[in-house]
Amino acid sequence: MNLILIGFMGSGKSTVARHLSRLLSLSLVEMDEIVYQKTKTQNMHEVFALGGEALLRETEIAIAKEYALKKNQIISTGGGIVLNHLGLDSFKETGGKVIFLNASFDTILSRLIDDNSRPLFKDKAVAKKLYDFRMPLYLSYADAVIDTDDLIAEEVALKIQQRDMYRK
Ligand code: S3P
Repeated sequence: MNLILIGFMGSGKSTVARHLSRLLSLSLVEMDEIVYQKTKTQNMHEVFALGGEALLRETEIAIAKEYALKKNQIISTGGGIVLNHLGLDSFKETGGKVIFLNASFDTILSRLIDDNSRPLFKDKAVAKKLYDFRMPLYLSYADAVIDTDDLIAEEVALKIQQRDMYRK
């Protein structure tokens, strides 16, 4: 079985996934990194320059279909995985459990304010619109919701471990 972490940019998916993979002895899959491998790029700006957001989304779906067939993984998704149902449906069809890392927009803003690595987080007002639009989508896919505002990543991972959602 797989555990799939979803949430907005800056919600801590990658860091929590690293802790969780250690805690549960499961392999770690960082979807953005696999997007770079598959598109032969080095970062998200290069992905967008090569094929726009459409290239990112179609690559994410292909990765989800491929990795949904593997087992015993912690999957850290990109924040936009909820935009097309094919991605998360693939994971759910093979028994994966989806965990939403919920963070307030203020928390996210404080984490990403000086981070220029994300093409879709350049303007605060645009990012807030994206956040509001996606919130119901994250909730609709979630098998569990973890409120992360007052927790460090390690505590979030421990909380997920305590929920005992994983079975081999
Ligand atoms: C995106 C989130 C990013 C990355 C890309 C687009 C999004 O991943 O996939 O920049 O649309 O929310 P993180 O959520 O890991 O930042």
